[in-house]
Amino acid sequence: MKHLPDHATAQILLELDQIRQTVSEIKKLEEERVIEEGLFRTLEYGSRMGIFIIQDGEFKFVNRHTENQWGYTLEEFIGKGALSLVHPEDQVRVRESAMQMLKGERSSPFVFRGLAKDGNIRWVTETVASIPYQGRRAVLANYMDITEQIESQRKLEELEALEASILDAIPNAVVGLQNRRIIFANNGVETVFGWQAQDLIGKSTRIFYRSDREYEGVAQLLYAIMEKQRTATMEFPCRRKDGRDIECSISAARIGTYLKERNIVVIYEDITERRQAKNELEQSREQLQKLTAHLQSVREKERTLIARELHDELGQLLTALNTETVLLAKKIPPAYSDLLDRAAGMSRLIDMTMQTLKRIYMSLRPGMLDHLGLTASIGWQADEFAKRTGISCRVQVRPEDIALNPDLSTALFRIFQETLTNISRHAEATQVRAQLKATGKTVRLTVKDNGRGITHEQRHKPHSFGLLGIRERVAHWGGVVRITGAEGKGTTVDVSIPLR
Ligand SMILES: Nc1ncnc2c1ncn2[C@@H]1O[C@H](COP(=O)(O)OP(=O)(O)O)[C@@H](O)[C@H]1O
Ligand SMILES: [Mg+2]
Repeated sequence: MKHLPDHATAQILLELDQIRQTVSEIKKLEEERVIEEGLFRTLEYGSRMGIFIIQDGEFKFVNRHTENQWGYTLEEFIGKGALSLVHPEDQVRVRESAMQMLKGERSSPFVFRGLAKDGNIRWVTETVASIPYQGRRAVLANYMDITEQIESQRKLEELEALEASILDAIPNAVVGLQNRRIIFANNGVETVFGWQAQDLIGKSTRIFYRSDREYEGVAQLLYAIMEKQRTATMEFPCRRKDGRDIECSISAARIGTYLKERNIVVIYEDITERRQAKNELEQSREQLQKLTAHLQSVREKERTLIARELHDELGQLLTALNTETVLLAKKIPPAYSDLLDRAAGMSRLIDMTMQTLKRIYMSLRPGMLDHLGLTASIGWQADEFAKRTGISCRVQVRPEDIALNPDLSTALFRIFQETLTNISRHAEATQVRAQLKATGKTVRLTVKDNGRGITHEQRHKPHSFGLLGIRERVAHWGGVVRITGAEGKGTTVDVSIPLR
């Protein structure tokens, strides 16, 4: 190599160095380009985030994710005004937030409502940055769709609000317990116990009870039941803040599958008034029953008395009258045939009166019920019924001689009478079978007809005093009555009364 002057060598070396530098810069740029391209591709295809580039207020680039999310095609996106994707009410705010971020005055993402092509709202959280794009400034925005989170959050809030309003709408006290400490209480605690809900947080439910012993008893019982099943219910006396005692229905339910953490909800319902009303109702029912029984027995006694008076007094007078008439007739000379006829007519009238009288006092109360007992009376009543209605009526009694308390006999006899009356009035039957059976423990009367059969509605008619009377009489004797009907096949009244 020819020697060059020093300055020329220096010049060449300098140039060489410059070339080397340029080459290394080119290499670096190439590397960066490759990296950039990779990055770009990832962002374009792979990213779960939405990315777009905006220049002059229009979309210049969007990634695949963005295309899928808003319903526009890539062609529709490019050149579209960027703000058209934002809900009109949020546009001003979005522009301001983006400007602040680009100026570096804000670093946190901003949230807004976007509008998809189909008009649906998408909630979006977004950040923006300034980048060069095709030689000029542009805005790179990346965002995440948070619609589902927002929706589920809103649902959760709605649910919580609903829960709270349900809890407060319940007139009962509802408390949540963790390890026997109150962690929440609804407004119902004020109605039931007079406590403010917030005063109870952290306290034990001991304050709802009359004593430590009762509190422990209830807690142990409820927890023991809840070891085996999800809910437990009991009625127990409680005490209000003002010291007044109330009767509560207490229901507890464990939260979650196991009782390990002792998370439970307890509901207290004040049933003091209900219980009182129930007691009063029971009492008044009992009194009514007693009154009915009393009235029936008074009525029975009066009937017996009147029947006896009619039989003894009136009956004797008529007999005497008859005797007198017969004697009188004997004194009439045979020549006065018209007088004789009159006397015979009088005798017939007296006889008819006696028959009528007998019918009246027997229907008031058959004397045989007192003298011959239930068995004979039922037989007699069956014969009378058959004669009067033409419906055959057979009675079977086992054993033949059933001796019962006279009042019970009367009750059974009256039940039998009402049953027969019903058959003649409603059944359209041709045949009745009755059975009176006594064992050591019970007496049972069964009356079966072959008529049209009583229906369910007829059995529970509100103004059916006949059947009601039967039920009352049976209830008074501690028995049971079963009334069954089969359409077209007949009705059975089955009364069974325990003997004491
Ligand atoms: N043996 C029967 N066969 C068919 N229906 C009957 C019979 N006994 C009662 N019933 C029906 O049951 C209803 C209630 O009877 P009851 O209480 O005695 O009231 P009442 O006889 O005054 O109508 C009757 O109205 C009738 O419709
Ligand atoms: Mg009747």
